[in-house]
Amino acid sequence: MIASLRGMNDILSEDYERFTYFITTATNIAQRYGFHFIETPLLEETTLFKRSVGESSDIVGKEMYQFIDKGGNDVCLRPEGTAGVVRAFIQKKLDRAGGIHRFFYHGAMFRYERPQKGRLRQFHQFGVESFGESSVYEDASMIMMVSDILKTLGIGYRLQLNSLGCNECMPPYRTKLVKFVKECQDGICEDCIRRVDTNPIRVLDCKNGSCQELYVGAPKLLNHLCLTCSDDFKLLKKILDDNSIKYEIDTNLVRGLDYYSKTAFEFVSDEIGSQSAIAGGGRYDRLVEFLDGRPTPAVGFAMGIERLMELIKMPQTKKDGYYMGAMDEEALDFVVQIAHKKRQTDKVIVEYKSKNLKNHLKAADKANVKYCAVIGSNEMRDKNIWIKNLEDKSEYTIPMSEF
Ligand code: HAM
Repeated sequence: MIASLRGMNDILSEDYERFTYFITTATNIAQRYGFHFIETPLLEETTLFKRSVGESSDIVGKEMYQFIDKGGNDVCLRPEGTAGVVRAFIQKKLDRAGGIHRFFYHGAMFRYERPQKGRLRQFHQFGVESFGESSVYEDASMIMMVSDILKTLGIGYRLQLNSLGCNECMPPYRTKLVKFVKECQDGICEDCIRRVDTNPIRVLDCKNGSCQELYVGAPKLLNHLCLTCSDDFKLLKKILDDNSIKYEIDTNLVRGLDYYSKTAFEFVSDEIGSQSAIAGGGRYDRLVEFLDGRPTPAVGFAMGIERLMELIKMPQTKKDGYYMGAMDEEALDFVVQIAHKKRQTDKVIVEYKSKNLKNHLKAADKANVKYCAVIGSNEMRDKNIWIKNLEDKSEYTIPMSEF
């Protein structure tokens, strides 16, 4: 038997209902916030992710599904959605058009990680990206949107918040941090030794307990923000307070992708084990320019659909549509014709095998439909259909022409 690859799952039956329920809910909410659908390719030039997500990140350094295609191009399966949306935004010259452009997307992402519960190699994200708006109210709107989606799905969360500063305040902070880390170099892990040279702020979210102990006294980013970043962060907190959105400040929240500046946030759940991040995002004002577009402020987030599927409280599914069956072989043609007409407006499941009434009713019950409609020789003779409403249990016969 050929099985699916490790860390890559099929989504079907009950899972698919959860999946589509999530997509519909999130799509409705994103549209209410004025976002439009965008679809970008699953395969992009590897350089796109190297330049945006960053060569020093684990995603680019260790986890890309990268290969040379038959034309000799260095390509990879997208590990995340932001870079492709930014590329499309620039390619369509929307950076030159000015104004605000807001997109949402959903689809498969690929990261060659070590699979475990909640951590897949092919997973799905729902994400949004907003271009052209530098106001911190837009950052707050992103957070409110995630909160709206989670609330609608009945999912509890903790929101972690940080500011990563800007071009003005980040470099001097980074220098201070490097000095601090170099002073405790003897005790830190191999990864952190590497990070000090490649991307020092990543040491702050090292998962190694002994590193974390050493960094307790490290300089805090939030104490080194410039006036603009500090005021924006204050305003962001005020907007969230005013809208009753609770948050925790986490000065070590640096995110695993290199393109962020200013606002960074993560939504976590305490109910799904160690892979607890259910959504993450932030501002990335430098990325459009970095990918050769006109400087454009931008902010966005993405949610991990598989992790959310574990948490979604599904609404009670209502019985819906018809089950149709024949009691005699000769009646099947009628059943199929009537079903074809009825399907122009309703869901109809047809059973091709003729069965007795009891078995049809059993099958209809299993199909979770509202009505069981059956045709036998009597009904054929009288041009009737026998129907049972499986909700209120009423039974009746109506002329075929009125069905
Ligand atoms: P990210 O934090 O890397 O951000 O991913 C967003 C979410 O995708 C995570 O919070 C998690 O729920 C889910 N996720 C990530 N990796 C896996 C995995 N291996 N298996 C299952 N779920 C996973 C981004 O991707 C950014 N592009 C978000 C963004 C959009 N920032 C600005 N705009």
